[in-house]
Amino acid sequence: MSKKITVNTIQNYKKNNEKFSVLTAYDYSTAKYIDEAGTDIILIGDSLAMVALGYETTHGIGVDEMAVFTGAVARGVKHAMVITDMPFLSYHTDIPSAVTNCGRMIKLGANGVKIEGYSEYILEVIKRLVETGIPVMGHLGFTPQFLNTLGGYKIQGKSDEAVNEIIKQAKALEQAGVFSIVLEMVPQDSAKLITESLSVPTISCGAGKYCDAQVLVSDDVFGKFSDFKPKFARKYGDMKSLIYACAKQFNDDVKSGKFPCAEEVF
Ligand code: KIV
Repeated sequence: MSKKITVNTIQNYKKNNEKFSVLTAYDYSTAKYIDEAGTDIILIGDSLAMVALGYETTHGIGVDEMAVFTGAVARGVKHAMVITDMPFLSYHTDIPSAVTNCGRMIKLGANGVKIEGYSEYILEVIKRLVETGIPVMGHLGFTPQFLNTLGGYKIQGKSDEAVNEIIKQAKALEQAGVFSIVLEMVPQDSAKLITESLSVPTISCGAGKYCDAQVLVSDDVFGKFSDFKPKFARKYGDMKSLIYACAKQFNDDVKSGKFPCAEEVF
């Protein structure tokens, strides 16, 4: 397996115009296999609130839960860069608690954190985290933690004015020290303009092919989560059917006496 991916690897990808991949993971064994498959960045996304814990939005999860999932993923990963998505209210109230909460993830094995949005306060948080030695991934466009103020799952950056605003925000994030920026639910042509105006890589989450990288929620990729499927996600497998078939066969075997067999007993 190749060397550990770092902020320098990510910078070089952008410089050399090389695409890279980002997938979410929430547990040890999934993280291990995703890592072995050569994924560049593994994100403990706060999407886990929805796909792993059954909440309706990402708001329900807190720092203590993210810490448990961060430790589990970090223990499974050797090669990828591990990034923890900081949950709602974990960096919003004041800078000392933002540094403490983000630093806790680094102590558990994360190599950086992701924080959503743009404001003068967020720029200050980014600066302080980077000064502390914590790499930061930004997140613009549709930002799920702002679901209630954005008025729902809405595409962002559609008009010229809206794209220019995202470019302004992205440049400010870059200036503050982020090493990459997720662009979520932004039209492909807008994402192209944003990507071309930055020296840090953009990571598309439903923002099209011109971004420097692509991210998807692993449960969507594996065909495990089935409550809804975002338009931009691609299903590469049918884990839902596989889990159902295995559980059904086990159930049938127990009831018919086929499990356990001679080789499965002491
Ligand atoms: O929570 C998450 O998984 C995310 C990515 C999909 C970008 O924020």
